[in-house]
Amino acid sequence: MKATQEQLKIKLQQALAAAFGSDYTQVDPILVPASNPKFGDFQANVALSLSKKLGMQPRAIATAIVEKLDVSDICEPPEIAGPGFINLKLQTSYLEAQLNAIKTDPRLGVPKVQNPQKEIVDFSSPNIAKEMHVGHLRSTIIGDCIARILEFRGHEVLRLNHVGDWGTQFGMLIAYLREVYPEALTTANALDIGDLVSFYRQAKQRFDADENFQETARQEVVRLQAGAEDTLHAWKLLCEQSRKEFQVIYDLLDIKLIERGESFYNPLLPKVVADLETAGLVEENQGAKCVFLEGFTNREGEPLPLIVQKSDGGYNYATTDLAALRYRIEEDQAKRIIYVTDAGQANHFAQFFQVAKKADWIANDVEIVHVPFGLVLGDDGKKFKTRSGDTVRLKDLLDEAISRSRTDLEARLKEESREETEQFIKNVADVVGISAVKYADLSQNRTSNYVFSYDKMLSLKGNTAPYMLYAYVRTQGISREGNIDFANLGTDAKIILKEDTELTLAKHILQLDEIIAEVEQDLLPNRLCEYLYNLSEKFNKFYDKCPVLKSEEPIKTSRLMLCYLTARTLKLGLDLLGIKVLERM
Ligand code: ARG
Repeated sequence: MKATQEQLKIKLQQALAAAFGSDYTQVDPILVPASNPKFGDFQANVALSLSKKLGMQPRAIATAIVEKLDVSDICEPPEIAGPGFINLKLQTSYLEAQLNAIKTDPRLGVPKVQNPQKEIVDFSSPNIAKEMHVGHLRSTIIGDCIARILEFRGHEVLRLNHVGDWGTQFGMLIAYLREVYPEALTTANALDIGDLVSFYRQAKQRFDADENFQETARQEVVRLQAGAEDTLHAWKLLCEQSRKEFQVIYDLLDIKLIERGESFYNPLLPKVVADLETAGLVEENQGAKCVFLEGFTNREGEPLPLIVQKSDGGYNYATTDLAALRYRIEEDQAKRIIYVTDAGQANHFAQFFQVAKKADWIANDVEIVHVPFGLVLGDDGKKFKTRSGDTVRLKDLLDEAISRSRTDLEARLKEESREETEQFIKNVADVVGISAVKYADLSQNRTSNYVFSYDKMLSLKGNTAPYMLYAYVRTQGISREGNIDFANLGTDAKIILKEDTELTLAKHILQLDEIIAEVEQDLLPNRLCEYLYNLSEKFNKFYDKCPVLKSEEPIKTSRLMLCYLTARTLKLGLDLLGIKVLERM
C-alpha cells in the first residue's frame, strides 16, 4: 500500500495548494497510518502544523483542505477529528480491487526497485583455523536475510565471505604443522589433520610455552609473506581444512557465499599505505605508521591513531579492510557496502570508514554501512557457553536444535496417534530445528543481546518459527481438506470483504511492500518477522470467525483466495528470512 499512501499524499498536496496557494504543493501533509483503526487507515496531521503560519485554527485549516480534497476513488468521505486531524478510511471496494490485482502476481505487489544497483553484503566471515562461534552464526543468519531481501528487490548482490585467512597466527600454525605433520608441507595430497580447533589449541599451547618456537613461528610468517613454496602449501592446506568445516554449517543453513578472504587483498596493502602517505594523512609513531582520528581518544584522553602499518612492517585488520573497501568501490563498482558483524567491532568500522573518507576514497554515490548486532547469551545472562564453560560448536548447536525438534515432533505424533514415515519425521525435524534457530535470531532487534533458549525457539506458541510454519500448514490443510488446488482458483475468482477479520487480514496482506521497503532501508529483519507474526495471528482470527469450506459461493471462493494469499505471503516472507515452509508438520 505504499503506492496508495503516495497517491493520497499527492492528493493532499493538491488540496493544500487549492486551498492556500501554489506555495503549498510541496508541504508535507504528514500522512501517517492511523493510530487507532477506529479512526480509519491513515491520518493527515498537516493542519496542526500549519496553524501558526496561516494564523488559523487547525480545525478550520483541516476543513479548508477537505473541501478541496478529492479521494473519492480511494477513501470514504474524509472526517475531521479532535483538534484537526484528517482521518481517511479506505473503501472496501478499493481494498478488494488491490487484492484482486496482486492475486496473480508472484511478487505479491512488491515492486522491484527502479534503479537496481550493485550491493555488497560482507557477512559470516569466520577466521581460518579458529572456531566459528555464535557471533559468526548471527552474522551468517542476518547477512543472508539482508542479501535475500536486496536480491528480491532486484539489486545485484555480491555476498562476500571476508574470512580471516591471513595474519601472524599462521606462523604459529604452520610451525606447528611442520613439527607434527612434516609431510604435510610437501605432499601434494590434502592431509586430514582432523579437528582444526583442537589443532589450533595445541599450537597455541606450544607457542606460549616455548620461546624458540615463537621465533620459528615468526620466521614462518616471513616465509609466508615471501611466498615460500612449502609454507604456502601448508597455508593452503589449513585453509582447505577450515573451508570444509565451514561448509558443513553453510550446507545445514542453506547459505550461499563467495569466499574472498583477507589474503586476497594482501598484494594491495602497500599501496593503501603509500596512498595515505601521499594524501598527507600518515604520521610515524614509534616506528608505526598511523592515521590520527577525530572523535577517538584513549583512556588518557589523547587522540587515538589507527595503525595502518606496524613497526615491523606488518599490516593490520584495518589496513586490509581499507584495501577491501577500495577494491569493492573501484573494481566491484559497489554502490552500497554492508558489513554485518557484532557491535563490538563498531569502533573498528567507524575508524577505517573515517580514514577512507579523509582519503577521499568514497565517492558521493557510495554508501558504507556497518550493521552491528548484539551478543547471544545463555540462560544465566552471560555469554552463551556449554555447561563445561567451553564455546559452543555451531555444528553441535544446530544438531541439538534438530534433535530437540524431533523429540517434540515424536511426542506430538504419539499424542495425536499419527503414523508418519521416517523420511517425513526427518524432514520436519530438520526444517523446524534450523528455522527455529534462524527465526529466534532474526526476530530480535539485532542491536540488542538475546538469550538463546531451545525451549522458547521451538515452542509452537508465540513469535517463533514453529508458530509461523504451523500457520502455513494450516492454510495447506484447508486446501487438502477441501480438495482444492489454490493455484487453480482462477483469475476470475473475486475477493469480497465483509467481516472485520477479513478486512483486517486483507489490509495486513497489502502492507508487505511497505515492510520490505523498510527492511531494505533500515536493515532490521525483525520488522519482517513481526509482520509475519501479525499476519499469522490475523489469519488465525479470520479462520476462527469465518468458515471457509462451509460457506456459500461466492464467499467461499473469496475466502479460499484470502487463505491462498496468506499462504503465499507467509511463504515469500519466510523465504526472505531464509526459512523453508512445510506442507504438513
Ligand atoms: N573475521 C572477522 C571476525 O571474525 C570478521 C570480518 C568482518 N568483515 C570485515 N570486512 N571486517 O571477527
